[in-house]
Amino acid sequence: MHTAIVTGATRGIGHAIAKALLESGSRVMITGRSQDGVNEALAQLGAFAKDGTHLAGLAVDVRDRASVEVMVAETVARFGSLNTLINNAGVGVFSEVEKTTDEDWHSVIDTNLTGVFYCSRAAIPVIRAAGGGWIINIASLAGRNYFANGGAYCASKAGLVAFTESMMLEVRNDDIRVSVVMPGSVATEFMGPSGHQAADSWKLTSDDIAQTVADLLKHSSRSLPSKVEIRPAKTR
Ligand SMILES: NC(=O)c1ccc[n+]([C@@H]2O[C@H](COP(=O)([O-])OP(=O)(O)OC[C@H]3O[C@@H](n4cnc5c(N)ncnc54)[C@H](OP(=O)(O)O)[C@@H]3O)[C@@H](O)[C@H]2O)c1
Repeated sequence: MHTAIVTGATRGIGHAIAKALLESGSRVMITGRSQDGVNEALAQLGAFAKDGTHLAGLAVDVRDRASVEVMVAETVARFGSLNTLINNAGVGVFSEVEKTTDEDWHSVIDTNLTGVFYCSRAAIPVIRAAGGGWIINIASLAGRNYFANGGAYCASKAGLVAFTESMMLEVRNDDIRVSVVMPGSVATEFMGPSGHQAADSWKLTSDDIAQTVADLLKHSSRSLPSKVEIRPAKTR
């Protein structure tokens, strides 16, 4: 039975990935920072789970190493193994460098980069013990196409692309496949609720990214698409 952790699955892309994994019959552990947020997502996602044993949730801040280690241990305790880690949790703060506070900088780097390191380090031995699996990191095209007022975010995602590729080379011979998915604009609450659904209609949807992840997981064991760039087909 395929088992997965999806970090940051209370809404947006992580929520859609959790839904897609549940629909394919996987057992899924979802996380977010608050218990209320996780409970709400559990209630929404329950309908897609095969039965009550397929879905669980924990309040885990990926910046907190100890909580991340509990997340991995709890997943194994509940589901018996861990095959796939989806590092999706992320935040963005967009401001000029001279106006970026220490708190903003650390929030972005600690979540988007250090959090992925904590989760991956905790998961690798457990995925290896399960006979192999996947780690899929949700980065961004901002990790390649840099822009003004995006210093912390672009740096976190460029760092994540580099981290992911290095980790991929390290563990590929242990049957652990590591991929980075780099989406362009996705219509989520990431930049705050736009309130203009029509204005967002050109953007990717969370389900588009979930489909990308689901497709990766279907690749034959010979094949490792290690970097996927996905962007809206049109710009407006
Ligand atoms: N939307 C885009 O245009 C876009 C484009 C490219 C890449 N991405 C990337 O895609 C990922 C998901 O973004 P999204 O658009 O779905 O954003 P979102 O709607 O704001 O969702 C972010 C998720 O991350 C969780 N989260 C944030 N900080 C966390 C932390 N410290 N520990 C655990 N969970 C945390 C949030 O849960 P709680 O608030 O409940 O903690 C939420 O579930 C991010 O890595 C983002 O950088 C987004």
